[in-house]
Amino acid sequence: MSDDVLLRATNVVKEFSLRSPGLRQRATMRAVADVSFEVRRGETFGIVGESGCGKSTLARCLVQLMAPTSGSVTFNDVELTTLSRRKLRPYRRQMQLVFQDPYASLNPRRRVGDIVAEPMRVNKTGSESAIRARVLELFELVGLDTASIQRYPHEFSGGQRQRIGIARSLSLNPSLVVADEPVSALDVSVQAQVLNLMADLQERLGLTYLFIAHDLGVVRHVSDRVAVMYLGEIVELANADDLYAAPLHPYTEALLSVAPELDDGTQAPRERIVISGDVPAPFNRPSGCAFRTRCPFATDHCAQVAPPLVELTPGRFVACHYPRNHSTASA
Ligand SMILES: Nc1ncnc2c1ncn2[C@@H]1O[C@H](COP(=O)(O)OP(=O)(O)OP(=O)(O)O)[C@@H](O)[C@H]1O
Ligand code: SF4
Ligand SMILES: [Mg+2]
Repeated sequence: MSDDVLLRATNVVKEFSLRSPGLRQRATMRAVADVSFEVRRGETFGIVGESGCGKSTLARCLVQLMAPTSGSVTFNDVELTTLSRRKLRPYRRQMQLVFQDPYASLNPRRRVGDIVAEPMRVNKTGSESAIRARVLELFELVGLDTASIQRYPHEFSGGQRQRIGIARSLSLNPSLVVADEPVSALDVSVQAQVLNLMADLQERLGLTYLFIAHDLGVVRHVSDRVAVMYLGEIVELANADDLYAAPLHPYTEALLSVAPELDDGTQAPRERIVISGDVPAPFNRPSGCAFRTRCPFATDHCAQVAPPLVELTPGRFVACHYPRNHSTASA
């Protein structure tokens, strides 16, 4: 039974064919490598990882803005990857994206009221007067002055623009909002306001969030569960509190040891795990464990055998031959 599961990804793979530097022939690069997880109704599921690890590509494959190379994506138990464009339409309305850069995603030549109204006009949700009334309602919902609907995006601050992006994403009453780094482009002081707004909207509207970020501090504060990605794979998945208290994967541990300490008294001082080197290019994936070229605990075995993602203790998944903090995690 999966009554509480809204979105399920099973073995999702996305490959790009590209001409890589130094290679004569086209190379196939796995941006998303066999990713499986479930997003439960009403939760915030966080995805974290360094730039280029495949977060946005995964998000696009989930909401069907991009066809995965293989694998399954279900929404309310309906398989999306095989639906025609027409049959997909009602599901696309249920899944809306909020982007990182609200300025780039808002048409500078259109009034913000029209930007928020656009999805409703495209989907012909009702009469023009009903759409206008809904725009005013949405502006109020996200804490914007309704008198500003005639203005243009450049007349707003970064935080206000992200509110406009959120209002647009809510215009069709979605059940899932996929927020791809929604606060990364904002000043720290404004980040908290937008995150609080998102939390408030989630409660009022019963929304489910897939929340993508590279900042572990942000993800911890908003997420119920967190998946950590490295080179297109999920390397650890757990409840946010468990993951932060006792990370199992060396990569998670390294990310946490450099993440700014949150001054809430819940975090014990951490041993600093330094990872050396850069993320390998995705078309140059190391043998065995993809993290082994940067892992301080790598052995020959790690170079030979890729560790599968296994459920080490209930609800705690890790892909590592030598999980860290295991005794703490299972205590
Ligand atoms: N359309 C595309 N064609 C070819 N390669 C692509 C395409 N889109 C993404 N990639 C590559 O896929 C990999 C994953 O990119 P993606 O944008 O999903 O990462 P990300 O985790 O969202 O990064 P960031 O934190 O910078 O947003 C990168 O190596 C990127 O260059
Ligand atoms: S499998 Fe080996 S290389 Fe990979 S994270 Fe674990 S210890 Fe490090
Ligand atoms: Mg991205």
